[in-house]
Amino acid sequence: AWDSLALTPPMGWNSWNFFEAKVSEQVIIDMADAMAANGMKAAGYRYLVIDDHWVAGRDKHNQLIPDPVRFPHGMKYLVDYVHGKGLKLGIYSDAAMLTCGGVTGSYNFEEQDARTFAAWGIDFLKYDYCNAPEDVATAFSRYSRMGDALKKCGRPIVYSICEWGQRKPWLWAKAAGGHLWRTTWDSRDVWESHDANLTGIMEIFRQQEHLAPYAGPGGWNDPDLLMVGLYGKGASSSVDGRFKGCTAIEYRTHFALWCMLAAPLMVNMDLKRISPEVLQLITNPQLIAINQDALGKQATTVLQRNELQVLLKPLQDKSFAVCVFNRAASGQSFEIDLKKELDLWQRFNITEVWSGKPVKALKGTLDAHDCAVYILKPGQK
Ligand code: DGJ
Repeated sequence: AWDSLALTPPMGWNSWNFFEAKVSEQVIIDMADAMAANGMKAAGYRYLVIDDHWVAGRDKHNQLIPDPVRFPHGMKYLVDYVHGKGLKLGIYSDAAMLTCGGVTGSYNFEEQDARTFAAWGIDFLKYDYCNAPEDVATAFSRYSRMGDALKKCGRPIVYSICEWGQRKPWLWAKAAGGHLWRTTWDSRDVWESHDANLTGIMEIFRQQEHLAPYAGPGGWNDPDLLMVGLYGKGASSSVDGRFKGCTAIEYRTHFALWCMLAAPLMVNMDLKRISPEVLQLITNPQLIAINQDALGKQATTVLQRNELQVLLKPLQDKSFAVCVFNRAASGQSFEIDLKKELDLWQRFNITEVWSGKPVKALKGTLDAHDCAVYILKPGQK
């Protein structure tokens, strides 16, 4: 079934924030090599998604042609290479005549383009919404046109709806065939932007709060790519220049929160230059198990006390993942009473995720913007 293409949140890499218009065959080959060898593939990462700027135009049969300089051997060649590594290739288009980057989009060519992607062996399509009419009816109809085209193109292709949350896609994206739908504008590599026109990680996080009911196996809220490891590089517009990226603590909280939210885990740093710390973070087996849990619940906030926020994600085996997040700009200690504060009355065997060690209670000290993650497994009476 169509739903079964994304029974858990998709995991992978996307070219946007780091490589932008420089994405190329060589970049994808390098990323595939890195992902297959560095432990990411073993941890569950599968998709390499070519974002905007790969299209040169259409040929005389209206078939999309990749940029001949950056993709000299064409897409089939690249798909074969990526599949040969046991990974999957994603591509990008837009529900209008032109993409955000100003190259050819798929409007009016949905069926032909879906067939082309299928013939190349593409596994994932990110479909953007620049240069398209603003109203929700048109957005739904344009996304449905591509959704219908993908459903009949003869190949299972995960459909990523990139409408930026402006027309509440969580209400209609699944009906349009989507497996994931962006819920916000683009994330910037900054903890908090304090600017209404730029979304930092915290601005994005706060917008997910009421969307939990819409996420589940087959369809996911998408709070945009992981900024983890970018360190302010790959600024996607000149205004980004003033951002210096996040601290290691902020990146680990960002990753943990996205795991709790059952968000797609799409990194976009240069995988050739990934640091051992970042690699260890994004392949953390317990965090990935939380994110990929078969029940597919998005965490909800169960406690807010001062600037401490506690999120809870029920898991398939009746365990709970709990994240204690210190939003404050300074450190604070905490102790959470499972019964009185979280209404959890069972006995649990508790594991603390960063250390991987068993603990007796949810207590400790958190630096500014840090979090602690626990797995609570029901134990014997
Ligand atoms: C806007 C999207 O939100 C980004 O993720 C990226 O795909 C760019 N467009 C590409 O132009």
